[in-house]
Amino acid sequence: MDHLFVHVSDIHVGRGERGEFMPEKLELCIDEVNELAPEAVILTGDLTMFGLKEDYESAKKYVDQFKSKTLVIPGNHDARYTGYIYYEEIFGVGNWTHRMDDVFIVGVDSSVPDLDEGRVGRGRTDWVDKNLQRVPDDFYKIVAVHHHLVSVPGTGRERNVLTDAGDFLQMLVRNKVNLVLCGHKHTPHVWRVEDIYVATAGTPSCRKVRAKIPQCYYIIEFKDTYTTINLKEVGGKEERVRKCKTL
Ligand SMILES: [Fe+2]
Ligand SMILES: [Fe+2]
Repeated sequence: MDHLFVHVSDIHVGRGERGEFMPEKLELCIDEVNELAPEAVILTGDLTMFGLKEDYESAKKYVDQFKSKTLVIPGNHDARYTGYIYYEEIFGVGNWTHRMDDVFIVGVDSSVPDLDEGRVGRGRTDWVDKNLQRVPDDFYKIVAVHHHLVSVPGTGRERNVLTDAGDFLQMLVRNKVNLVLCGHKHTPHVWRVEDIYVATAGTPSCRKVRAKIPQCYYIIEFKDTYTTINLKEVGGKEERVRKCKTL
């Protein structure tokens, strides 16, 4: 069965000291995505700048403008100032599973309150493991987690990678996951690890990007036996990052 998803990350809604949040870019991104009408928009964390109540209320208003179903997980910024309390009130639990036809998606919260580094932990790794074990072999399996699963070029310090990335990755490989969606450092990159494609997204609406990286998001299509990952610049060109046989 064919499927179309959009992967948006790190929208960072809020009043940052340097005007990091670019509302006009997010509005344009939402318009573009609504035009595409994907089956779901997967948002991989850092919805807010500081995890404050006003950030969350504003972020919710933006997220609700996506006409497609939205699937959301938190990031490290969302857990600042005990923002995880507002996250649960406004967006619900940060760990969830979702099934759409022959696609199974798991969202995992890797944030640690008031720390920038991320960790899934043994409890949540076991929980993901148990859920994936129940999924039929011919399903597409997608896992969404905010922090990097594998180091991304140009993102510097190792603390961007999950502190327990090895354990988590081993479990994902054992369960034949097809695609992992991450965010965090606003630097788009796709790695293949074993038979998994690990797509780390950029940001559509935060000024904090590495040199020459545009505000962007991913358009992901499963068609026949192929997975296509395209990078879409907000208000700009669409570029193929990968077209690969679904492994
Ligand atoms: Fe971020
Ligand atoms: Fe982050």
